[in-house]
Amino acid sequence: LSAQAGTTYVQADRMVDVVSGKTVEKPALVITDGRITSVGTQGSLAVPAGAERLDLAGMTILPGLIDMHVHLTGRHDMHGYEGLAESTGDETINGVIHAEKTLMAGFTAARNLGAAGYADVALRRALAANRLNGPRLYVSGPSIGATGGHCDNNLLPPEYDAHSQGAADGPWGVVKKVREVKKYGADLIKICATGGVLSKGTQVGAQQLAQEEMDAIVAEAKRLGLKVAAHAHGTAGIKAAIRAGVDTVEHASFIDDEGIRLAKERGTYLSMDIYNTEYILSAGEAAGFLPESLAKERVVGKTQRESFSRAVKAGVKMVFGSDAGVYPHGDNGKQFARMVQFGMTPMQAIQAATVNAADALGASSDIGALAVGRYGDLIAVKGDPLADISVLERVDVVVKGGKLVKGTL
Ligand code: ARG
Repeated sequence: LSAQAGTTYVQADRMVDVVSGKTVEKPALVITDGRITSVGTQGSLAVPAGAERLDLAGMTILPGLIDMHVHLTGRHDMHGYEGLAESTGDETINGVIHAEKTLMAGFTAARNLGAAGYADVALRRALAANRLNGPRLYVSGPSIGATGGHCDNNLLPPEYDAHSQGAADGPWGVVKKVREVKKYGADLIKICATGGVLSKGTQVGAQQLAQEEMDAIVAEAKRLGLKVAAHAHGTAGIKAAIRAGVDTVEHASFIDDEGIRLAKERGTYLSMDIYNTEYILSAGEAAGFLPESLAKERVVGKTQRESFSRAVKAGVKMVFGSDAGVYPHGDNGKQFARMVQFGMTPMQAIQAATVNAADALGASSDIGALAVGRYGDLIAVKGDPLADISVLERVDVVVKGGKLVKGTL
């Protein structure tokens, strides 16, 4: 369903060039056997013989979007104790449904951060084999974290002996987990460095992995060639994760000035889910979130947005990460308007979801820009996203690997 043999000639009114940060008028590009083979303008680029034509008159084209933090196997309407009823089978089916929704929203690639039972690996395999419709996936398998921490299952009393697959302790304990998730197919490592909003009994601000544990995780991940994403809300945990050398910090809610300085120094990307709070606070009760989570959210959401503004102003590298799954899949794009509201230019917000995201994934040769050699993944919208970023909430055309997956010719 997603790669296409043959040649497609795409033309539009405007193109957002995320590499130069400029707009190109009357762009044209050629996609051959799934990858972009030339990029130019309608005047300069001839239509190759036998090419299929995609004329996106009146529209702006952009690279396919990348969401760096999704939970495709999770449901927005099943949180807290309700979520316990979900089997790995249920979660895999969720993933199939949500992968398609995510793609239709214009996200041609996504990073899935945390899934039980390797449902994410199964999903990635089926997508890569073109057996399903969805984004190109980069997956972590189970999140690695401390016993009783944010990534553990803390909902049940001891006689159930419930724990998440990624729960581990001590430097060698967590190293073993890194090896295990690699063995079963993860592309990258997700860790929980601090408490969280949605977990029972955890303090958002509390660091939950020792520096030694994070150092050990990152060292082992590097040996295996894997990137590391760290869930971290609390000030100390954020800094410990950055010092350990993680590639992205998720949430980053209580980052202080030293954390911002460290992130800049180390080139660490922040992935801040600043739309999330609106859903949790408005729909949270009906969706089954724990009362303690709603209480935590009231503090975290507001502070996180202030931190986002400070980090943007300071010039920290940023990627687009929504945490969709907490809120409805397919609504990923709603975060763009918040990123602009809290300090980014529209171009910066788009770069966060394209060129920066690809860099943070180590996938710049494949995705993230409309450039020769990369996959023919693009979207088209009516209007100009640089003038009104909210047009990215309404993506009319999606092309993946040169194949039109949404919209009509
Ligand atoms: N998965 C995250 C957690 O449980 C969600 C945080 C949502 N809140 C926010 N303001 N970003 O910690």
